[in-house]
Amino acid sequence: MPGPLLNTLRGENLAQRPIWLMRQAGRYLPEYRALRAEKGGFLALVYDAAAAAEVSLQPIRRFGFDGAILFSDILIVPYAMGQDLQFLIGEGPALSPRLVDTALSSLQAIPERLAPIYKTVARVKAELGPQQTLLGFAGSPWTIATYMVAGEGSRDQHEARAMAYRDPLAFQAIIDAIVGVTVDYLSGQIDAGAEAVQLFDSWAGTLAPAEFARWVIAPNAAIVTALKARHPTVPVIGFPKGAGEKLPAYARETGVDAIGLDETIDPLWAAAALPPGLPVQGNLDPLLLLAGGAELERQAHAVLEAFADRPHIFNLGHGIGQFTPIAHVEQLLGVVRDWRK
Ligand code: CP3
Repeated sequence: MPGPLLNTLRGENLAQRPIWLMRQAGRYLPEYRALRAEKGGFLALVYDAAAAAEVSLQPIRRFGFDGAILFSDILIVPYAMGQDLQFLIGEGPALSPRLVDTALSSLQAIPERLAPIYKTVARVKAELGPQQTLLGFAGSPWTIATYMVAGEGSRDQHEARAMAYRDPLAFQAIIDAIVGVTVDYLSGQIDAGAEAVQLFDSWAGTLAPAEFARWVIAPNAAIVTALKARHPTVPVIGFPKGAGEKLPAYARETGVDAIGLDETIDPLWAAAALPPGLPVQGNLDPLLLLAGGAELERQAHAVLEAFADRPHIFNLGHGIGQFTPIAHVEQLLGVVRDWRK
């Protein structure tokens, strides 16, 4: 029997809402920090399947969330496409050579960098109970391209946005290459045991409307179409962070099975504006989880009430912050577990 998270993704409107949190495995957990220190770094942790599976399971053991997410990173795709990848403490990720000054064709793909991740998926799957859903994930092509082009994260993604205007054909080739690898990568995760997958488009919010259609909607639609051909029953969650008023078009045109909403979206607007019956996920402000208290409870209830009439998975609007107190996560779980439609 599939668990409540998977059933919700398939369109059931359950009286009790399933819950998981983006970035639920990570630095706010002391057991994560201990294992990361023991393995000597983030990538070493990701490529040790036993340790990475343990990290995926840590938040399940501690909190009993309805879903576990594979422990890996969206930047494993550029790593497999031949860029070097480093996670520098306090500085975020660095990729080289950066595609702003190196042609995509000069990269030598290293597909073996994907296979170890499937081992993690299989190990997590073997440990989960039948009611707990295993989520795979990848970055969406636009967000991945912003890192591949600039070689690092940025506030406004100007390098990639400028390249897309200056040389749309070269930029299209980068996007198409990412689409191809991502389809294989997600397919591999599904074959290894992932029951649903999420596409993270963390930087979808900085694009002008026509660019959004070309670099967010079109490539995500291509991924969904290809995945559906191979795995027709596996739900795909799209999370176009910052998409705002473009969400209804994204929902209609990508073919995703569910939409992740960020915290800037008014849940009442989304409940009315998105296609009826489409499952939604979100969208409590992660900073409320940092702050805790009565306001956390009040706003969690507001999210739950707003989505009472459609399938809804409770989540944050973005990843959980590293300084979030564990007691506040427990408080939120209590609120969501006690609520009935
Ligand atoms: O629990 C989970 O959600 C599963 C694992 C996961 C990680 N990253 C682990 C991670 C997932 C789903 C991601 C997605 C990811 N990675 C995104 C999309 C979602 C988002 O947050 O917008 C992005 C943009 C990245 C790229 C990335 N990875 C950055 C910018 C950084 C450094 C900044 C930061 O938050 O530390 C990472 C590193 C990273 N990925 C960490 C974790 C737990 C921290 C690494 C550490 O332990 O030092």
